[in-house]
Amino acid sequence: MGKLDDIVSLCKRRGFIFQGSEVYGGMAGTWDYGPLGVELKRRIMQEWWQYFVEDRDDMYGVDAAILMNPRTWVASGHTATFADPLVECKECKSRFRADKIADGITESVTTEEFLDLHVKCPVCGKENWGPIRKFNMMFTTHVGAVLPEDTRDNPELAEKGIAYLRPETAQGIFTNYKNVVDTIYPDMPFGIAQQGKAFRNEISPRDFILRDRECSQMEIEYFVAPETWEENFEKMRLAQHDFLENVIGLSSDKIHELDVPKEDRAHYSKRTIDFMYDYPNGEEELMGLAYRTDFDLSNIQRESGKSMEYRDKKTNEVYVPHVIEPSIGVERLFLAVMAEAYAEDEVGDSKRVVLRLPENLAPYRFCVSPLLKNKPELVEKAREVYAALRKKYGNVTWDDSGNIGKRYRKQDEIGTPKCVVVDFDTLEDDTVTVRDRDSAEQVRVAIAEL
Ligand code: GAP
Repeated sequence: MGKLDDIVSLCKRRGFIFQGSEVYGGMAGTWDYGPLGVELKRRIMQEWWQYFVEDRDDMYGVDAAILMNPRTWVASGHTATFADPLVECKECKSRFRADKIADGITESVTTEEFLDLHVKCPVCGKENWGPIRKFNMMFTTHVGAVLPEDTRDNPELAEKGIAYLRPETAQGIFTNYKNVVDTIYPDMPFGIAQQGKAFRNEISPRDFILRDRECSQMEIEYFVAPETWEENFEKMRLAQHDFLENVIGLSSDKIHELDVPKEDRAHYSKRTIDFMYDYPNGEEELMGLAYRTDFDLSNIQRESGKSMEYRDKKTNEVYVPHVIEPSIGVERLFLAVMAEAYAEDEVGDSKRVVLRLPENLAPYRFCVSPLLKNKPELVEKAREVYAALRKKYGNVTWDDSGNIGKRYRKQDEIGTPKCVVVDFDTLEDDTVTVRDRDSAEQVRVAIAEL
């Protein structure tokens, strides 16, 4: 596992991740994925979709709008409770999440409890705090022709124009539950999955892509008969481990389950397990698995006046389903994959950085090169091999820059499992050199067998 600084530097150097709007000095909590990063990110998302949606017959996908009717967020409780404890240092004016700068307190900490801890400001070292304020993390925006300045003295107008960027993809699933039931007629239990952007005005984005203001979530709301929630929770818990370890390749000993105590759970949850991962900077939440009861569907039923009940096909019983929700951030999974893959070792006498990405996630599966760039017959043959491999695998890259050693170093750093080199022997016997990223060993292989 690499240090966070090494991973950040590799991500930038090789075109995985750049600071968002870097050319203008950046924007805190936003990140842009470059040519390599976007390939890795898409593969992670595709593997998740395949595992949880395509390979199962009890899951359906949706892709809901990011902007939703503001009543969504009233019903879900986000308008009232999706807030972090914000505290300001009166000396240097820095602002922090109180529970992130003091040990042993939760998100519901009061000003008195915080002051009793005599925390020093992490920026100026003084102890002079203002009161703790609840800071709602939803981003607001204005929809339609109502301009923010028009609404200043007119609360009614302001209400009309305000919308939020969704802070979780989950609500786009809940609001479509009835549509899915009425169009697909799924058997119980069944799940609805969604991947997409979520936005949170985090007080202090940090640790590279771990805590962002704009992130991508992959969420499932799994609807179950109320009395079966425990068995379905357990099945979902095991499925998460299987996916993280056997599809994504994370080490099982780096994943720890944390049964979240009541006072730390989200307002909707009766049970939550956080899957913690040993990141380079310490243990952090990778994903959550929550039992959301019928909290959301019942709230929607109340707020919209429309029935969210389901008639069980087997028992004929009518009920509002309960929900098990696995929710994972793509960025957190991306960082875990990078941390797991990053290694430094020696090949021959020289040191190298190598990204030991699993083959199913590597941005490129093969790199094809001619041994020498200035020999047209080698280039022509290598182009033929390249075209054939591309046709077969899709994600194959071409590299004829520098010398062969430099090409290997570069491909090691971006995690390409195999480098294929066309040389003079190829012209005689239609074999190529295939070099393995991890062992650096080279073997001769017939082109037809690649
Ligand atoms: N629908 C439930 C929900 O949103 P959450 O625990 O707030 O629950 C779920 O978020 C997951 O989304 C987290 O475990 C994390 O992987 C990811 N996530 C949440 N906030 C994030 C942020 N600011 N930056 C990156 N990922 C985030």
